[in-house]
Amino acid sequence: MDRDKSAKNVSLLLVEDTKEHAKYTRLLLEKQDYTVNVVPDEETAIETLKQREPDVILMDIMLGNGNGIDFCKKLRKGDKFANIPVILLTSSNDIKTKISGFQAGADDYITKPFKIQELTARIELSVQKKRLAESENRYRNFMQNLNDAVFMLNTQGEMIDLNPYAEKLLGAKKQFLYGNSLFQFFQKDFSREFIKNFETILTGKEVRGVYLRIKNVTGKSIPVEMNGFSRQENGSIIQVQMVMRDITERELLQQEVQRYTTLLEKQVEARTNELNETQRRLIMSEKMGAIGQLAAGIAHELRNPLSIIGASVYYLTRVLSKNENRKIGDHLEIIQNEISRSQKIITNLLDFSRRSSPERESADLNKIIRQTFSILERNLTNHDIETSLNLEPIPLCFINVDEIKQVLLNLLMNAKEAMPGGGVLKVKSHLHDRKHVVIEIQDSGVGMEKDKIEKIFDPFFTTKANQDGVGLGLSLVHSSIKRNQGTISVKSEKRDGTTFYVCLPVATT
Ligand SMILES: Nc1ncnc2c1ncn2[C@@H]1O[C@H](COP(=O)(O)OP(=O)(O)OP(=O)(O)O)[C@@H](O)[C@H]1O
Ligand SMILES: [Mg+2]
Repeated sequence: MDRDKSAKNVSLLLVEDTKEHAKYTRLLLEKQDYTVNVVPDEETAIETLKQREPDVILMDIMLGNGNGIDFCKKLRKGDKFANIPVILLTSSNDIKTKISGFQAGADDYITKPFKIQELTARIELSVQKKRLAESENRYRNFMQNLNDAVFMLNTQGEMIDLNPYAEKLLGAKKQFLYGNSLFQFFQKDFSREFIKNFETILTGKEVRGVYLRIKNVTGKSIPVEMNGFSRQENGSIIQVQMVMRDITERELLQQEVQRYTTLLEKQVEARTNELNETQRRLIMSEKMGAIGQLAAGIAHELRNPLSIIGASVYYLTRVLSKNENRKIGDHLEIIQNEISRSQKIITNLLDFSRRSSPERESADLNKIIRQTFSILERNLTNHDIETSLNLEPIPLCFINVDEIKQVLLNLLMNAKEAMPGGGVLKVKSHLHDRKHVVIEIQDSGVGMEKDKIEKIFDPFFTTKANQDGVGLGLSLVHSSIKRNQGTISVKSEKRDGTTFYVCLPVATT
């Protein structure tokens, strides 16, 4: 340190009762740029100290009405000025006096008459010691109150000092931790990560923001963020310092944010699916509505000419049977059959376009299933289809009986048609929730691909054009079920069969 420069900032309190000595010493010191305050006795010294604390007190041992050594003792015992360095000025070279001076807490002494160089050297030493002590104190205070854990480790990774927060983090007092290696507080991957970073620090590099998990003495696992660096002396590393921040709260917060994000994503996905489904249904009901109106109009228009053709064919058949022209007879039969088929289509179309609410009543759904099933049973077994009915007890349902019979017939016919080489048909019913009953119609037939499933409820969609399929069966089923305040869904896999689920409302009593 440059003595001349530092002297300007150094203030001294000289306690000296001999006027000539005081004057002479002050002059010498002021020449060296020290700020000097001179007092003759203990009382005035205390007053001055209260006003402004000097960096060093120079105290004559022999004070007129007191003793410098006793005053020094008092200063050290009190808590206000205990840290100010005291240099005793003594005219005796007596070793006893010197020893009692040190015992009283003096930092140094100088024997009068002194050389100014010696005095300034001793003042500087005291000032430096004081400043070092102050800085260490500040550092210690900082460490004590820091909300991060600070670990001082030797180059073996053993703890040589730690602050209160570090004790809290590890769950033990420092006296039990000193000399123990910090490695043991990390497990598995984190232990490896710790060692890797410790070795990096030992090469003189700093590490920052390393994520580790401490397992403390109570077995608690605590996430921390670690910064570490080395302390060097004369070019070699003597200590490793690590600062660890407990990031439990940050981690919890991140998890919470993650949880909300996932939840939000799921909600958005569910909402999007819902919207898609609503849109699909909307398009379909609009399509159905438009086609329904058209169909009703056409059906009415066609009914009359068909009846007239039908009557004429009937007349011709009767006339021709007398002439017995077989060929013409065959053609007339074809015409008759085609008329019946057209009439069937028209009836279906009119059914389909019927939009007014049908009569609904409380009805035994299991009974309806059995009746409908019995109509087809013979037909099914003739086609090598094994059938089974599994109907659980269910409450009465609020439905239009005729419409539901039509629904079941259509679904059973489709199932049969999906198993041209035979198979298994299962029909089940059960209570779904307290307000709904579900009928399951399951076949082991050809099944469907996804893009086909999307179209089956569309009117006129058929894959049976060459077997008289019209493609109205399922669209009728759909509108009937809707009118009955039910729902229909389907599960199907190509070559693995199909199951239709019809959900209908229970009658309220
Ligand atoms: N159980 C099923 N297994 C496989 N495909 C089916 C099944 N039910 C319906 N389909 C498919 O859905 C299409 C539409 O069925 P829908 O009942 O509406 O008309 P369709 O049976 O072809 O003719 P129809 O108007 O005579 O009923 C069928 O052509 C068929 O491809
Ligand atoms: Mg059908």
